[in-house]
Amino acid sequence: MRVLVIGGGGREHAIIWKLRKDDPALEIFCAPGNAGIGKIARNVPIEAADVKNLARFAAENGVDLTVVGPEAALAAGVADEFAAKGLEIFGPTKAAARLESSKDFAKRFMRKYCVPTAGFETFDRARDALSYIREQKFPLVVKADGLAAGKGVAVCQSEAEAAGVLREVMEGRKFGDSGEKVVIEEFLEGKEATYMVFSDGETFLPMAGAHDYKRVFDGDLGGNTGGMGSVSPSPRFTAEIERTCLERIVRPTFDGLRREDILYAGVLYFELMLTPDGPKVIEYNCRFGDPETEAVIPRLKTGLLPVFTACARKRLGGIGLEWSDEASVCVMLASGGDPGEYKKGLEISGLGADFGEKTQVFHAGTAEKDGKTVTDGGRVLCVTALGKDAREARERAYEAARRIGFDGAHYRRDIGSEE
Ligand code: AMP
Ligand code: GLY
Repeated sequence: MRVLVIGGGGREHAIIWKLRKDDPALEIFCAPGNAGIGKIARNVPIEAADVKNLARFAAENGVDLTVVGPEAALAAGVADEFAAKGLEIFGPTKAAARLESSKDFAKRFMRKYCVPTAGFETFDRARDALSYIREQKFPLVVKADGLAAGKGVAVCQSEAEAAGVLREVMEGRKFGDSGEKVVIEEFLEGKEATYMVFSDGETFLPMAGAHDYKRVFDGDLGGNTGGMGSVSPSPRFTAEIERTCLERIVRPTFDGLRREDILYAGVLYFELMLTPDGPKVIEYNCRFGDPETEAVIPRLKTGLLPVFTACARKRLGGIGLEWSDEASVCVMLASGGDPGEYKKGLEISGLGADFGEKTQVFHAGTAEKDGKTVTDGGRVLCVTALGKDAREARERAYEAARRIGFDGAHYRRDIGSEE
């Protein structure tokens, strides 16, 4: 069997690591991959959103199943292109992926199907948006409608700040076409959690809960990043909250998708705010989370390939997932300067060490240069460890993180400490 994984971050490394662990003989390609992925799969130099060349590669190389990591590939219609060529793929169509690629679409969908979420209004003219915020309470959240690499959301403390963001996004076109519309929404108070759910279009199957750490500095200070770490299980995502989510959020969402005739095959990621009034959806993502996947997947005992295949073939009904009781903590090593400007191409030391079987170093942004592994992104390495509880997992992850280094490397010291 031949599998192609699209993407090249820690999420894709974790997925491939699991596929490889389940079946050492599986042939795995990854486009474009990274230095760590290249050690357990074959990297293919095609970018994730280059859907035509990805489909051509899959057809020419007899790929049996393709698994999509990043949203950019989904929004570019990779699933539609593969389906049109008769190629099997795990990932929703472009129409279904609008749940992530258009916040306005997602919010209207939630409103229509009574999925709890923040109140909102959408604007396509800056003038109207500016007059609307004059009557609002603050903080207030301003979001570019389209994809903006995780940077399109601003929590604004004052009218002046919100007006500045609106001007930058709508008039200054900071995010290009993605900011032609903006969603302005009510600020939700609470802690965040991540609930990822497999779906084949008819049945759904939830994964273990998790939460990630978006702010750059300890204590949730500083700017938003792509994620500085994650844990699974998430102590704040209790069994009772999970039940409420299934009943009020997950089930109504999949019922709504069916009513809209949207066949959703892939992972649907519910980003939740656990508010005093119950869990509410901050947003949907149409893919695995990063870095939540790096914490969740190592806890999965069930083989992953049969789940992907079942989603692609509408046979998820017969499948159950078994999870390890161990806790997982994932610490992200980021480039100096990230989430702002940072250097690439810095040599990484310490990767050859033996960290033990409970610890995995997933590569998020690395490349191979002159036989050396060098940094190649803002998020560089994702150190995940399992332990009998979060404390043990955390100690293991930090012990490994301390042994790895590159110029300017930084990481948060408080991942998993809430436990
Ligand atoms: P998003 O890109 O939608 O995941 O938003 C990025 C971050 O902004 C989230 O992780 C939250 O911390 C914050 N955020 C987004 N929407 C809201 C909201 N309505 N209320 C409070 N915080 C929000
Ligand atoms: N960890 C947040 C995301 O994957 O969007």
